[in-house]
Formats: sequence, C-alpha cells, structure tokens
Amino acid sequence: MTAMLPHIKVWLDHFEYHALHPRKIPEGVTNLLTEDEKHLIGRSTATFQLGEQSEGGSLMKAAQRFAALHNEPRLVRITELFIKEEQQHATLLREFMEDHGIALSKRDWTDQVFRGVRKLADYELYVSVLITAELIANVYYRALETVTGCQKLRVLCRMLVADELAHVAFESEMLLAIRSKRPMLARLVIDALHRSFFFGATCVVWVTHYGVLRRAGYRLDTFLRACHAQYEFYLKSPFVHAPTTSTP
Ligand SMILES: [Fe+2]
Ligand SMILES: [Fe+2]
Repeated sequence: MTAMLPHIKVWLDHFEYHALHPRKIPEGVTNLLTEDEKHLIGRSTATFQLGEQSEGGSLMKAAQRFAALHNEPRLVRITELFIKEEQQHATLLREFMEDHGIALSKRDWTDQVFRGVRKLADYELYVSVLITAELIANVYYRALETVTGCQKLRVLCRMLVADELAHVAFESEMLLAIRSKRPMLARLVIDALHRSFFFGATCVVWVTHYGVLRRAGYRLDTFLRACHAQYEFYLKSPFVHAPTTSTP
C-alpha cells in the first residue's frame, strides 16, 4: 500500500494541518445578499449544503476495510479528518444560509442517489462517486462565486474550492494507484463506466442548478466541457499511461 500511494504521509500531514487550522471567514467581510441573488442561489445552495453533510459512517467502514487489507492505518486517520473537513464545509454553508434566511434542504433526490450508491460501495467505488460530485462541485462553486456580489459568499466559495481541490487531488491519486494495478481491459471498462456516470451526473447538475450556471455564463456545452476538463485533468484516460507503439 505504501508503494500504492507514495504520498500518503504528505496527505496525512495535509489533513492534520487543516484540522488544526479550521477555515474561518475573516472578520470584516461584508455579508450583503440582494433579494434577487437570494432567489437565484437559495435552493441550489441548499442542495450543495446537503451534499457537504456527511455522517461518514459508510465511508469510514469502507476505508477501514481497505486500510486493513493493505496494512495502511494512516488511511483511516486521513478519512476521519476528511469527514470532519466536509462537515465543516456544511457548517460554513449552513451559517451563511441562516444569515440570509435561506431554508435548509432536508432531502434531495440527487443527494439521495449519491448517498445510495455510496452506501453499497467498497472503498474504490465510494471514492469514484465522491470524486465525481467534488469535481463537478468545483465547477459549480466557481460559477456561484461569479453570480453574487456578496463578499462573504465569494470568500466561502473560494475556501470550498481550495479544500475540494486537495480532496480531488488525494482521491484521484488513490484511484489511479488502485486502477493501475488492474489489467488494462479492466482499467478501460472502469474508466468507461466512470465517465458515463460522470457525464450523467454533469447533466443532472446542469438541469437542477440551471439558474446559477446560466447566470454564470455557462451553456450546456460549455458546462459539459468545463466538467469534462476536470475529469481529464485528474483522472486521465488509461491510454495515457499505456505503452504505445505508435509515434506521436
Ligand atoms: Fe466539501
Ligand atoms: Fe470534498
């Protein structure tokens, strides 16, 4: 496992450091949200707030099994800290919503789908689903930042993106390491399935968060492209690592 994920110590330090320095909105940041903005972002933000909430029970179990199998206890600690960080995101978003009287969402079908799949999953599948949500969330939070003049929300979006970038970097490293141990055919199939799921999720996010994304200047094709670029950057096609006989 150590060979499987050479930077695990770096990741452990990263998450330990973040746990000691929780994200805080700096004092003095203005917190004015217009009625129009509230109307535009309210429900959409509530869905993402719900998505950030993680009891983490099934992830913890999957990580414990995986860590035991690969004799890598540090993964358990990383997962514990990761879950705390996500809970912090949910809290920051909830506080912002409460500031502006935006109703929290208790249930959302897209959230249920993500949770349902994850519950069934082993560690690899769990992380695949998680990274799908986070890669798309990063495009979404950047879009959200551009549709509001509210300084607090803008700072919050940047904080969330900064943390999520580290999450997807960790998770993609983990997934690529796990997948690289598989035969090429299996890697191709897994990649194709993941891409299909990712594409479906992107379409669903487009439809369900249309207002914010459209206001941010996206069209369906540009949104799909932005999300796809995230996938390519972090998860690369297995062909990229395949030995090639052709000359470029
Ligand atoms: Fe998060
Ligand atoms: Fe995350």
